[in-house]
Amino acid sequence: MRYCNLRGIRASRVVMGCMRIADKPLQQTESLIVEAVKAGVNAFDLADIYGKGDCERIFGVAVKDLGLARKDYIIQTKCGIRKGDTGTWYDFSKEHIVSSLENSLIRLNTEYVDVFLLHRPDALMETDEVAEAFDKLHGEGKVRAFGVSNFSAGQMKLLDESGVDIVANQMQFSLCHTPLIDAGFNVNMNKDESVSRAGETWEYCRLEKIALQAWSPLQYGFFGGVFVGDERFPKLNAGLSALAEKYGCTPSAIALAWILKTPAFAQVVTGTTSPERMAQLCAAGDIELTREEWYGLYHSTGKALP
Ligand SMILES: NC(=O)c1ccc[n+]([C@@H]2O[C@H](COP(=O)([O-])OP(=O)(O)OC[C@H]3O[C@@H](n4cnc5c(N)ncnc54)[C@H](OP(=O)(O)O)[C@@H]3O)[C@@H](O)[C@H]2O)c1
Repeated sequence: MRYCNLRGIRASRVVMGCMRIADKPLQQTESLIVEAVKAGVNAFDLADIYGKGDCERIFGVAVKDLGLARKDYIIQTKCGIRKGDTGTWYDFSKEHIVSSLENSLIRLNTEYVDVFLLHRPDALMETDEVAEAFDKLHGEGKVRAFGVSNFSAGQMKLLDESGVDIVANQMQFSLCHTPLIDAGFNVNMNKDESVSRAGETWEYCRLEKIALQAWSPLQYGFFGGVFVGDERFPKLNAGLSALAEKYGCTPSAIALAWILKTPAFAQVVTGTTSPERMAQLCAAGDIELTREEWYGLYHSTGKALP
């Protein structure tokens, strides 16, 4: 396993995502954590809304049962998405940020989280208020570092103006979801691919040394399903299988290694709940694809380069 440095926090490049553990038996989640830790994973991704709080609660119980020392693993959680009678809404008010984190600490049964992310941009965000909330949580020793998720470059710049220091931005990215880099290949051309759906987010993260974390690394569309083994992606699967044979791992591990080869993508957040798959996926943390292999896989998804 290789590690990255989130401004002083040493975190594994493969992160165990805990969004899907709520309806799994506790014993399965414990085995999942055991396999992940055995493979060198020390970073775990959660959110207040996963399983309506149950994912944080289950994770807190599992690490206690397993007797893991708190200093040996990194907890990342998120806040800001709320659900009400009128549907989903976003809340970056100081009051909500602080109370959300405090409730997460109770559910996680811990005194601090290592990284705390704003989950999805709030159009009503007052950046000074966010800064005040973060200062308070940091000052009280409840959060070590802060980040965002699904934020554009402009939105991160707004936070920066208020003195908010961001170490990570968690974005959807997979071989079948690449808007962050597509337009960069097609600058100044009259093609659909030239349209930038992600602005200069990828470039800004590189410039400011903000670690990109990829969520849903094996999915196409917005939770469309897993592309590995799906017959609708024959060329991609042939490419993944050929490289899996070369590197002695599974095709899914190659798909994760492809993400980790992409500059600025410091981490990939995997969502498997299968202990066996977790062990196999962690191989991605040690594989370095060549440039030609990286571009070959990009082509195999049907995207053409100029
Ligand atoms: N910041 C955000 O807005 C955001 C949004 C979504 C997710 N996330 C984070 O990202 C993490 C990963 O998201 P995700 O769960 O959608 O990612 P994923 O790793 O792309 O998908 C995992 C799902 O694919 C299934 N799967 C089927 N075949 C698989 C294979 N060969 N290898 C691995 N998994 C296979 C898994 O089932 P099994 O469990 O049976 O293996 C699981 O249901 C989440 O846990 C969460 O922490 C963040």
